[in-house]
Amino acid sequence: MSTTYKLDTSTSRANPTPKPLKRLTVPAIQRRKFEGKTEEPLVMLTAYTARTAQLLDAHCDMLLVGDSLGQVIYGLPSTLPVTLDMMCNHGAAVVRGSYHSLVIVDMPFGSYEKSPEQAFESASRIMAETGCAAVKLEGGQSMATTISFLSQRGIPVMAHIGLTPQAVNALGGYAARGRSQEEHEKILADAKAVADAGAFAMVAEGVLEPIAISVTKTVDVPVIGIGASPQCDGQVLVTEDMLGMFERTARFVKRYHNISEVIEEAATKYADEVRSRSFPGPDQLYQPKK
Ligand code: KIV
Repeated sequence: MSTTYKLDTSTSRANPTPKPLKRLTVPAIQRRKFEGKTEEPLVMLTAYTARTAQLLDAHCDMLLVGDSLGQVIYGLPSTLPVTLDMMCNHGAAVVRGSYHSLVIVDMPFGSYEKSPEQAFESASRIMAETGCAAVKLEGGQSMATTISFLSQRGIPVMAHIGLTPQAVNALGGYAARGRSQEEHEKILADAKAVADAGAFAMVAEGVLEPIAISVTKTVDVPVIGIGASPQCDGQVLVTEDMLGMFERTARFVKRYHNISEVIEEAATKYADEVRSRSFPGPDQLYQPKK
């Protein structure tokens, strides 16, 4: 059954029918991995707008307001110029548009790396302004102290290891990680460090499959893969990538639709009808009452 939404004009909330599922919590997500195993993999997708959140909510366990919105929404060349203001605005929209999924908002580049105190200030602002339940930040061992500082102060943190796009300049690109023994060991050490520091879950992006499997087996918290392994505890993709919005995507993206074709077809038809004056037609016009 598809969900319909009635707009409450006093609050601008779109109320769904049928009644929403209960919002998942951080402990509920953590409990999905029991004794090292996750029976039913966790489903996570990115969302940046209220309407997309409404459409994805019932199908997901977690919605990530990723800083990938820099490229996807704002046409920026990387995630580096993304600001706290952008994350707060889009995070709030996604929380308003969802009722079931746990919403996690990315901490943008420059908003957390300086010190645990800087991270606390940014994360608490994100949580207060958006109503999200958790934040995500990139980095492994180097971020362990910060993750522990935030977790001990009531801010659930999802870590992000492996290919960390905010470090694109240091990494030299977006290639998969873990091809050398040194990188392999670093990814495992990063995973252990963030789990020990109190991260409630982690994203493992762009890592060789055997490494993703051993990370998943090694840590007790859920590992959400992207370009990793189906044996991870869950998967995430950028929604616009999996919808086929872009011509060029990473190898790990599977396109479940070709939404760019759908948009182009509709735009072509609309433009033709405007130019031939067949839109608007009788159904779209107001006439004086008889
Ligand atoms: O920013 C983002 O969308 C992400 C996912 C790709 C994991 O971090």
